[in-house]
Amino acid sequence: MERTHYNTALSEKNVGEHVTLLGWVSKRRNFGSILFIDLRDRSGIIQILVNDADKVPDIRNEYVIQVKGVVQLKEQANEKLKTGKIEVLAEEIKVINTAKTTPIIIADETDALEDTRLKYRYLDLRRPCMQHYFDIRDQIKITTHKYLHEHNFIEIETPMLCASSPEGAKEYLVPSRVHPGQFYALPQSPQMFKQLLMVGGFERYYQIARCFRDEDLRADRQPDFTQIDIETSFLDQDQFLPIMEGLIKEIFKNTIGYEVKLPLRQMTYKEAMERFGSDKPDTRFGIELHDLKEVFKNTTFEAYKNAEAIKGIAVNSVAHETSRKVIDNLTLEAKKFGLGGLAVLKVENGELTGSFAKFLLKEEIEALFKEFGLQDDDILIMAAGAYNRVSPLLGALRLQYGKQLGLIKPNTYDLLWVIDFPMFERDLETGKMVASHHPFTRPKDEDLHWLDEDPTQMLSYAYDIVINGYEAGGGTLRIYDQNVQKKIFNILGLSDKEVEEKFGYFVDALQYGTPPHGGMAFGLDRLAMILGGTDNIRDVIAFPKNLAAVCPMSGAPTTVTEQQLDDLGIEVKK
Ligand code: AMO
Repeated sequence: MERTHYNTALSEKNVGEHVTLLGWVSKRRNFGSILFIDLRDRSGIIQILVNDADKVPDIRNEYVIQVKGVVQLKEQANEKLKTGKIEVLAEEIKVINTAKTTPIIIADETDALEDTRLKYRYLDLRRPCMQHYFDIRDQIKITTHKYLHEHNFIEIETPMLCASSPEGAKEYLVPSRVHPGQFYALPQSPQMFKQLLMVGGFERYYQIARCFRDEDLRADRQPDFTQIDIETSFLDQDQFLPIMEGLIKEIFKNTIGYEVKLPLRQMTYKEAMERFGSDKPDTRFGIELHDLKEVFKNTTFEAYKNAEAIKGIAVNSVAHETSRKVIDNLTLEAKKFGLGGLAVLKVENGELTGSFAKFLLKEEIEALFKEFGLQDDDILIMAAGAYNRVSPLLGALRLQYGKQLGLIKPNTYDLLWVIDFPMFERDLETGKMVASHHPFTRPKDEDLHWLDEDPTQMLSYAYDIVINGYEAGGGTLRIYDQNVQKKIFNILGLSDKEVEEKFGYFVDALQYGTPPHGGMAFGLDRLAMILGGTDNIRDVIAFPKNLAAVCPMSGAPTTVTEQQLDDLGIEVKK
């Protein structure tokens, strides 16, 4: 079709030129015989002026039109628009297609419910802010391809239909028609394949990989999501991380023009948990956790006497708004983390007040004032119990206060590595040992002796990149010794027989000259979300699922016909 320019390619320089534009009617305003149209195309909006409104066809919002006319200066510039100084005086307008009245307003500001936006996603995507998110996402991919190729990486695809393997989250299964009763699993990540590519001699692999995990959804999680998946051979951690930092620097520069300063700071998992109560700390504000074991060393309070951990945070200037209801809500939060309760104390007229105050010894009160530098109107929140519950609880409360009090400056970026994760964690509910990252993670050389003594003491070569409190990526160096790998599987509760069944091919491969290797995966969606400035991962995925894992547009998941089930040899339990 005839088109001479994209809307925003036009500027004062084109005044006087005849142009032909294509796009959608974003808005129309009638002033008697004069009609203004905001014409939207992929690049943005330009104003069209129609002097003879009765001579043009009926034009409504979202009609697709072609405009022929002359560029002229506007009487009054509109600072908000890129093309705000000019307009196109229409000479001819052709309606190419009509549109029904849209169920959502197509503008950055919309009051539509998210499910309505997702149902009519193709309309939602027309909103300029949405197009901006996808430009950012695209730029991340372009930069990744370019940077990684410049650094000798090769992109290789790995299968979508895989063997089921317990990696962490639940898998999505795909029934096999040819082999009734047997299933493929969709990959949670290409983890084993990429390691086998290292055995295969590629040395530097990457893939923009689709991953599938059947887990509870949150604002930063989707069941199908995308990773920038990377694996390398023969690199130590301190050789590998700088290459990844270079990639992140390029991505920040090319998407939002932000200069990331390298090298990135590194913080151990232990320090992150101790100071911020999180393995993905947002370090853009304070409210750090303090260890209070020493303060309470002579406590007479039963629950504090034998507690594994006692920790606290102080929040400035909120005591006056900390009502009974606020305190009840904080206590509810503590219960969610499996703790019986928590102490909330206010500083009023130089004294600690609150129902917990009566349990405090004079020396403890003095020590608390000193520890936190408490001032009038501050509150002090303390929790005691298992370390793995106390720290995350206070970490979560710290974050709530940071957001609520506006302590995080907009458009600031805080990037760091969290390193030295433990090899294993105990599942708080089942008490079972689970891999902190995944079972292929290599224990630190100096900790290998714990393998037979007490594996919970082992640290690993694992690292996460944390941006503004989000885990934007993570990875590890891998085990390349088949005996260590088998032992790790055993610690995780897999018998030799199960290892053989589930991972036989993988453990076998380790025997054929496996190079030392390691890698990581960035969450592409999370990067796009952070760089786009939204806190909703669904904004940066074209056709996402809602929090109930449903696609409101296509209706997925749906039932299928009896015939389809028969073909697969499947009967659905009622
Ligand atoms: P991990 O499970 O940490 O590691 O995932 C890597 C990164 O992927 C992103 N991510 C998600 N994004 C959106 N929705 C989800 N459900 C979701 N789950 C994870 C996060 C995370 O940091 N194979 C290993 C990587 C490796 O060891 O090389 C892996 O998948 O940003």
